Amino acid sequence: MKKLITVSAFLLGFVGLAHAETKVPVNLPDAPEGHYVHKAPTMEDLEADESIHPELKRVIRRGYDLFTNTQQLRGKNVFNDMNCSSCHMGEGRMPFSGPVWPAVTTLPDYRGKNDHVNNIEERIAGCFSFSMNGTPPEYGSDDMVALVTYHHWLATGAKIYDYDIAGRGYGSLPEPEKEPSYERGEKLYAENCAICHGEDGQGRKVDGKVQFPPLWGDNSFNWGAGLVRLNTAAGFIKHNMPLGQPGSLSDQEAWDLAMFMNSHERPQDPRFEKSAKHTREKYLNVHKHTMYGKTVNGKVLGEHSNTGEKPFLKPDVLKPRTFE
Ligand code: HEC
Ligand code: HEC
Repeated sequence: MKKLITVSAFLLGFVGLAHAETKVPVNLPDAPEGHYVHKAPTMEDLEADESIHPELKRVIRRGYDLFTNTQQLRGKNVFNDMNCSSCHMGEGRMPFSGPVWPAVTTLPDYRGKNDHVNNIEERIAGCFSFSMNGTPPEYGSDDMVALVTYHHWLATGAKIYDYDIAGRGYGSLPEPEKEPSYERGEKLYAENCAICHGEDGQGRKVDGKVQFPPLWGDNSFNWGAGLVRLNTAAGFIKHNMPLGQPGSLSDQEAWDLAMFMNSHERPQDPRFEKSAKHTREKYLNVHKHTMYGKTVNGKVLGEHSNTGEKPFLKPDVLKPRTFE
């Protein structure tokens, strides 16, 4: 599907790539035959919709605000430089950029990652615990209900329990032809990514506000996050990066970049026990596709007790549920 999208003039202008609105070709896969397509509403749709109770609108707006500026929970629930929208682009609506509404239409369901039935609150809590290197707002709290409300509203009109959803997640790529390579990834990174995310991968802030999020290190997602999986990261990169040019890298390049990005240190997996190798084995359902516990440049990745800015390892919510 080739189409044109308008890229934020501000972001591109910032790095000197353009000064006005820029139309760029977008190359994303077509929805496979029979897959469900849902067009999530925008904030303009919300304001225009007179059928929505003003109080509901107010809470949806608050959820939207938390989703796009999650940094307001910094030091309380968030201990890195991420916003939800750093990885769920287009305010959580965009296909192949981890649109969040499918969670509403498919949960509660069994989730392999924690081996029990999860509802939408617990799914959101997962991203707080791993991707935000933090701990979620309490279940049922104003912040959690506002986030849940925003997710539900994005799913307005969508079919429920329809599992073949077009553009869900980040889109999977075929297995790479060549073993992903750190060296090739390093070179590609310098050419395509460093301009925004920095040569050191630490991103960039303007007036204390995160403009380009870090890809590794203390202020990035931790070793338990979904983007640590090479296949997930490769899908994200292929279909979303470089910003404004989705689909421009080859599959092999996306795999090489994923390998390079995820061969750097980041805060400990909150499920850590004994050693990175032990933790890797215990959570192999996720870590099978990660570099965690593997040796890169002479060092075992994740063999440390660094939790980044977060003053604890394991959020309380990461407890097993038994329903007994
Ligand atoms: C560092 C990147 C990152 C950040 C930041 C992040 N997420 Fe996620 N999120 C992911 C990944 C990866 C997945 C899994 C996608 C997949 O299955 O391919 C995911 C999945 C989800 C899903 C499930 C979507 C589905 O299809 O079922 C929801 C809901 C969600 N995230 C909400 C949030 C919220 C709310 C925040 C902020 C508190 C957040 N995420 C922050 C990476 C991130
Ligand atoms: C023009 C600037 C720009 C370029 C070039 C760029 N990115 Fe990004 N990237 C962003 C922005 C901005 C976000 C956050 C999305 C948002 O807030 O809308 C982001 C988000 C990300 C994320 C998810 C959040 C995180 O910090 O982990 C990853 C991973 C990523 N980019 C990887 C890459 C890779 C790999 C390349 C090179 C192929 C690249 N980016 C090139 C601007 C850029």
